[in-house]
Amino acid sequence: MNTCSHADQWRGFLKGCGNLAVGSQPFEVSGRLTRVTGLVMEAVGLRLAVGSGCTVLMPDGGKVEAEVVGFQDDRLYLMPTHDVFGLTPGAKVVPWGNTGALPVLGDGAPPRRRASDRLRRFPVGDGLLGRVLDGAGRPLDGLGSLEAEHGAPLVSQTPNPLDRAPIDQILDVGVRAINALLTVGRGQRMGLFAGSGVGKSVLLGMMARYTSADVIVVGLIGERGREVKEFIEHTLGEEGLARSVVVAAPADTWPLMRLQGASYATSIAEYFRDQGRNVLLIMDSLTRYAMAQREIALAIGEPPATKGYPPSVFARLPRLVERAGNGTRGGGSITAFYTVLTEGDDQQDPIADSARAILDGHIVLSRQLAEAGHYPAIDMEASISRAMTSLIPPEYFEQVRTFKQLYSRYQRARDLISVGAYASGSDPVLDRAIALYPRLEAFLQQGMFESATYGDSAARLHELLAPAA
Ligand SMILES: Nc1ncnc2c1ncn2[C@@H]1O[C@H](COP(=O)(O)OP(=O)(O)OP(=O)(O)O)[C@@H](O)[C@H]1O
Ligand SMILES: [Mg+2]
Repeated sequence: MNTCSHADQWRGFLKGCGNLAVGSQPFEVSGRLTRVTGLVMEAVGLRLAVGSGCTVLMPDGGKVEAEVVGFQDDRLYLMPTHDVFGLTPGAKVVPWGNTGALPVLGDGAPPRRRASDRLRRFPVGDGLLGRVLDGAGRPLDGLGSLEAEHGAPLVSQTPNPLDRAPIDQILDVGVRAINALLTVGRGQRMGLFAGSGVGKSVLLGMMARYTSADVIVVGLIGERGREVKEFIEHTLGEEGLARSVVVAAPADTWPLMRLQGASYATSIAEYFRDQGRNVLLIMDSLTRYAMAQREIALAIGEPPATKGYPPSVFARLPRLVERAGNGTRGGGSITAFYTVLTEGDDQQDPIADSARAILDGHIVLSRQLAEAGHYPAIDMEASISRAMTSLIPPEYFEQVRTFKQLYSRYQRARDLISVGAYASGSDPVLDRAIALYPRLEAFLQQGMFESATYGDSAARLHELLAPAA
């Protein structure tokens, strides 16, 4: 076989793929837009892998970035990252990385491209600390361009589960009730389950400010735009932001941008973990991430399964969550908190259900407590940290159990006590619970701008239960 026939074959392939402008080098492969309906665009004339990036060129010179999210026969389904206003039928679609200098024809060797070459890379590096970015890695804070040393794709290989370091070191999150009673380990992935307005953002902000983690990565996904500014300026504050990277893809951004924002925040966390650092990843919220995937999946024709969510949503959640966690032994860690919305306090919501199964524990916030002014409004009876037993010594765990028993015994007898129907002396555990209750409550409450280290939290618990222990 001679080299000439090889080149001819390649020429023929490119013609089949789209337009070929060979005359002057380099050449360009492109397709064209045939349909735009709602969120999805359809293009013909290109053979691209799912997940590839491309640009749709507008007649006025504008560009729309898009990603291949599916295909049928020779039609590609593209999802834009932002508004498609102004697009016209037949608009040119150019794959990413295929416009500039490419291997030229004539030398007989077809350009060798792997599908992953077309995956977009996003800025990561120490230069991102203190910055606020959108889901595509563009600065939102007006502080000038990024000093990013590296680029990372949005999809990554999750570590082999057998190579991961076990969760055996405590991460101080700066919140007493969590430190002492729901101890979180480095590399643990926790859910924060709550309805709206019960204090999720404030609690996450406290952790971001007071945690002992080296780096904090915050993904604000699908929440109100106003909240982003509020979270950064008031909740996170200057000291919190200095060692944080915030990726914001609020509700008014396109669903692909919201998905991308969550993956990008995870990629940034992975970068720091791979540098050996302990990262706290905060994702607010996992439910909005699932909703963005639902929008996309329904738009490209996937049938809805559970409560309107197509199956791909439930496949995506563990893929995102599994990227967090510990790296290999001796390396860094990503401890993650994902908020899960449980509207109307519906714990049976399919996303909440699925999240509970894939996370290593959950903290439930109670509206009743928030309404009573008890903050952070953690429902101790409903919350659990699954890694806790391997983090703390048995004698300390005994104290935690005692605390929870006393607290919940009091809760159950609360009505009796308040109407005076309980005669003291008939139940010694309840008597102790009644005597200690004001201190138990005070232990669980913490002001927004008050920090509680792990050491202080454990010592205070010990002191609280010590006399009769
Ligand atoms: N530790 C705290 N101390 C005092 N007040 C608090 C505390 N945590 C929350 N709050 C009060 O609760 C309000 C709502 O909190 P936050 O905005 O964190 O709720 P959210 O669950 O994030 O709400 P949304 O669902 O709207 O995002 C705050 O504005 C604040 O007044
Ligand atoms: Mg909030």
